[in-house]
Amino acid sequence: MSAELVLTASALAAALAGFPALRRRLQLSRAKHRSLAGHSRMAKRVARWMPALHYDDHQFFAADGAPDDVIVQRKLGFERLSQRLRDRAPQTLALGQQTIDGLPDMRFTSRYRIPFPFSAYAKAHLPMGSFWASAQGVTLTDLDGNEHLDLTGSYGVNVLGVDFYKACMAEGAALGGTLGPVLGGYHPCVADNVARLKALSGMDDVSFHMSGTEAVMQAVRLARYHTGKRHLVRFTGAYHGWWEDVQPGPGNPLPPRETYTLKDMDDRSLQVLRSRRDIACVLVNPLQALHPNRNAPGDSTLMDGSRSAHFDRAAYTRWLQQLREVCTERGIVLIFDEVFVGFRLAQGGAQAWFGVQADMVCYGKTLGGGLPVGVVCGRRRWMERFREDRPADICFARGTFNAHPYVMGAMNAFLRRLESPEVRALYDGLDARWAQRLQRFNQAMRDADLPVQAEALSTIWTLNYTQPSRYHWLLQFYLRTHGLALSWVGTGRLVFSLNYTDADIEEAIRRFIAAGQQMQADGWWWNDRGLTHRGIRQQMARELLDAKTRQVWHRLTGRQTA
Ligand SMILES: Cc1ncc(COP(=O)(O)O)c(C=O)c1O
Repeated sequence: MSAELVLTASALAAALAGFPALRRRLQLSRAKHRSLAGHSRMAKRVARWMPALHYDDHQFFAADGAPDDVIVQRKLGFERLSQRLRDRAPQTLALGQQTIDGLPDMRFTSRYRIPFPFSAYAKAHLPMGSFWASAQGVTLTDLDGNEHLDLTGSYGVNVLGVDFYKACMAEGAALGGTLGPVLGGYHPCVADNVARLKALSGMDDVSFHMSGTEAVMQAVRLARYHTGKRHLVRFTGAYHGWWEDVQPGPGNPLPPRETYTLKDMDDRSLQVLRSRRDIACVLVNPLQALHPNRNAPGDSTLMDGSRSAHFDRAAYTRWLQQLREVCTERGIVLIFDEVFVGFRLAQGGAQAWFGVQADMVCYGKTLGGGLPVGVVCGRRRWMERFREDRPADICFARGTFNAHPYVMGAMNAFLRRLESPEVRALYDGLDARWAQRLQRFNQAMRDADLPVQAEALSTIWTLNYTQPSRYHWLLQFYLRTHGLALSWVGTGRLVFSLNYTDADIEEAIRRFIAAGQQMQADGWWWNDRGLTHRGIRQQMARELLDAKTRQVWHRLTGRQTA
């Protein structure tokens, strides 16, 4: 740093010392990640500004400037792919067609599985079934009898294999069936669930809810109640469910309110936590360790192929330790949102795996033994819903279906089975086993000369692409025709259940290679070396600007431009 710069910086620091509020404001700005994901307000503005852009049937094939022979190759390949998707699953697709009209969730997922400029054309020609008839082992079977390896992981619920959950659900129904819909009072198995969850989480109290979203809501509400502070801190890109305060950017129609979105794994965020007095809690989703400061890696954002993920266990552990220290120092409630990773990384969840104890932990997904659930475990001082000395000042959190007998029964079956030798065996040596599988997958992709490499947090994998392209998102369609089922997020999130055997992994690799080679042969990964991530982004920016100009022109004149 030059002498003048040092002088300027120290002069600025001295000036700011006299204005603590300004200093804290500046500190906050510096602790924001520079991406749009780190700037919720700006991201919402950009989302509102973004014009519709739909490639026509020429642009769709030539978006990267590929030569004519490659375009022909792509068109032929596309026709085959489209036909294959239709031929193999007529009944599955017919039911989708019949239902989509009344099911906005299905319309959303079918639209947002790919980047929006491609989506209208692809949706018309690449139908993807959304119905399943049965599941067993590590497979899902559609209505036409096509068997797929299940990489959806049921949004993360399926940690131990579908048959495990079927058994838990049946046991839960048998247990809870004696009470049926009796709510308000508790089934006796609740006592056992509370005892087991206290032991597993190392916490004093347990609170039952109906979804992960609700559990996080309750944890944050309690933190605000007990600290008397309003703001929550979340880290850039982290998902904590779909309620307002944890989703301050696009996706939520309201403007950001009492939420600070800070840079993950960054000293400046620690400084904010050290210096501000309005922070009630810090929310941590340990799944972000795989891609700090980035949103969930869906294929809809795979515009140029520059997606990257990398997990550094030592660095993330250090980060959690630092958060622990600063939260203890400042009386901020540290909440681990283990809705996704709980019971997946280890039986004791992320707390045990990273060796860091939170003040509250949220669980969900798998803990319901296959039924919907959200759970908060926490220290007594944060979990109480009333105050002895101010009886009217309560923190209300009740829900009709909390602690439903069937859910409690299935949870009880889940928790008891966790102790069984068969389940323990799945966790034994889990890290080494999955690290070796990841290596094997990546080696196989390299050997097959495919531009695909996986990064993983244990059994949660994300695919990175080793060359720029505008068409990586197409891989999910080829994978489907080769019997691999992904969630609508696509190749950004492959979720394996722990009951995958080595032979199952080999079969998955074989299908990946077959799908990838077909995509390669159809010309989608053409690259003349002139194609760069930056070049693709610049071209996208030009296209969007053009589209915006046309949109404004149309609005002003009522006429379309040529
Ligand atoms: C980390 C995390 N928190 C909260 C949620 C919300 O849970 P639910 O979908 O059960 O409301 C999810 C869901 O994916 C999640 O992954």
